[in-house]
Amino acid sequence: MCVATRLSDPELISSRRNPLVRQLRQLHDSPGRRDQGLMLVEGTHLLHEALRLGLVPNLLVATPTWFDRHRPLLAVLPASCTVRAATAEVLAAMATTRSPDGVVHTLPLPWAGAESLHSAAPPGFVLALDRLQDPGNLGTLMRTALAAGVDQIWLGEGADPWQPKVLRASSGAALALSIVRLAADGLRDRVDQAGTEGLQRLAAVLPSPDCSAPRPYWQIDWTRPTLLLLGNEGAGLAPDLLALADQRITIPHSSEVESLNVAVAAAPLLLERWRQSLLAAEP
Ligand SMILES: C[S@@+](CC[C@H](N)C(=O)[O-])C[C@H]1O[C@@H](n2cnc3c(N)ncnc32)[C@H](O)[C@@H]1O
Repeated sequence: MCVATRLSDPELISSRRNPLVRQLRQLHDSPGRRDQGLMLVEGTHLLHEALRLGLVPNLLVATPTWFDRHRPLLAVLPASCTVRAATAEVLAAMATTRSPDGVVHTLPLPWAGAESLHSAAPPGFVLALDRLQDPGNLGTLMRTALAAGVDQIWLGEGADPWQPKVLRASSGAALALSIVRLAADGLRDRVDQAGTEGLQRLAAVLPSPDCSAPRPYWQIDWTRPTLLLLGNEGAGLAPDLLALADQRITIPHSSEVESLNVAVAAAPLLLERWRQSLLAAEP
């Protein structure tokens, strides 16, 4: 496809004072994303993911070099997407990464409308995260959750899932997953309700030698409808969430460390359901 014919405006943006730079920089932060109802998505890989998922970018800005290298992608961009060319310096000013690979785009936040408690069909596998702070942890968890077949993620406060760092760390999984954002008491109410909907509620906690010892995670039947709760990096799970759990489960490990990183702990737990499902399907 001829690049010039697909550009919405033939002018190359070469000044950092162009209003589009300010508009996209506002998407670096949560209030800007909320005000504009958009997220900023950086890089070619995430653009591929968005298009593969059928998401429709509002705006795409790329350098002339990027356009030359990715002509086939231009052909599959929805007609409604505004396409602009900018110098590498201007693109770097729009992006959060130090060395963007030549393209950024914006996506609407359609999920904002899905933040109601009752919007989704009853899911069979839910990951609930209590006040997760670190964007790298959140993105990594999302990637593992998608790999493990999680139907829905419930986020109780914590990091904004639509920030560029989370999108990058999730490798695009954030765009593919059903994500419900809730206030802390909203998460508690939702976890409470999940019990009446037949989900077993599993709270992941640290190994403990005392009599309230949690069960090793492999002793659980993960093929049942399941809600897995993971806690904040510093404080762990809030006591009111812990109190709602049907079972406390743990990954036993050496006492040389107090705990595992939350995203590391998530991997064996989430994938145990996958492992048990494969075993159950064996003849
Ligand atoms: C870094 S830990 C929090 C440590 C915190 N000081 C505490 O006392 O809970 C963050 C979360 O990761 C999960 N986690 C970490 N290590 C785990 C383990 N060995 N078994 C199960 N879950 C674990 C738990 O959900 C925990 O709330």
